[in-house]
Amino acid sequence: MLAQAVALKREHSIEWRVKGSGLKVRKSMATFDWDFQPKLDRRPVLELFGLGFVERHEDLLLTGKSGTGKSHILQALVLKACEQEWMVRYARCVDLIDDLYAGLADSSYERRMKRWCRPALLVIDDVGLGQLKRRDDEPTAAHMLFTLLERRHTNATTAITSNIKLSAWGKYLGDATLAAAVLDRLAATSIRIDIDGPSYRQFLARKRARDNGQPVLDEQDQEP
Ligand SMILES: Nc1ncnc2c1ncn2[C@@H]1O[C@H](COP(=O)(O)OP(=O)(O)OP(=O)(O)O)[C@@H](O)[C@H]1O
Ligand SMILES: [Mg+2]
Repeated sequence: MLAQAVALKREHSIEWRVKGSGLKVRKSMATFDWDFQPKLDRRPVLELFGLGFVERHEDLLLTGKSGTGKSHILQALVLKACEQEWMVRYARCVDLIDDLYAGLADSSYERRMKRWCRPALLVIDDVGLGQLKRRDDEPTAAHMLFTLLERRHTNATTAITSNIKLSAWGKYLGDATLAAAVLDRLAATSIRIDIDGPSYRQFLARKRARDNGQPVLDEQDQEP
């Protein structure tokens, strides 16, 4: 009876963490088809799930073309970290930057920045996807990301996914020099994993079309 109560309490605590993390979908590596991505080395990916890199405050940069499973892996990692009772936040890059921009409007920028600095693991998903706001009188997204990474660097783990080439970060983040500085920090110390392979999203779309008797389009993955 007591064991049951303890298990229930733990379950509630994990659920509370998952909700608080900002994760909207629940992915697991149990549903990850490794055979679909034969060039991806399992060992370093599965090693992430031991969460030693979070303990060591190491950063992670996961790159690859669209649909190759980057978000899937990090979303599964967020769940795992919640289960292990780490303090975790998950956000898409555009949403994180939007949140900080909102802080400029109502003077809560510093409070919001501190909140993003707090978690032991912060996942910034999908750098390169979606339109970032750009106003001349405000700091650029690159400035915000630089400040955030600088403050978290060596204190806590930041894990980032991106489907654009690292050389395109300057244009995307609105400041080439600061984007280079962000990448410098990441390149110096982070764990790097690149997924060089086909898009699972395209695979699913082709399968759906085939199942519905519709014409199957040629594979045209987005260039990173
Ligand atoms: N190897 C895989 N096995 C099973 N499902 C996969 C695999 N790779 C991707 N998926 C699924 O395909 C969809 C697209 O994957 P995901 O969102 O992780 O791609 P991504 O690399 O983050 O793409 P983007 O750069 O466009 O954000 C998701 O539903 C994901 O769960
Ligand atoms: Mg993604």
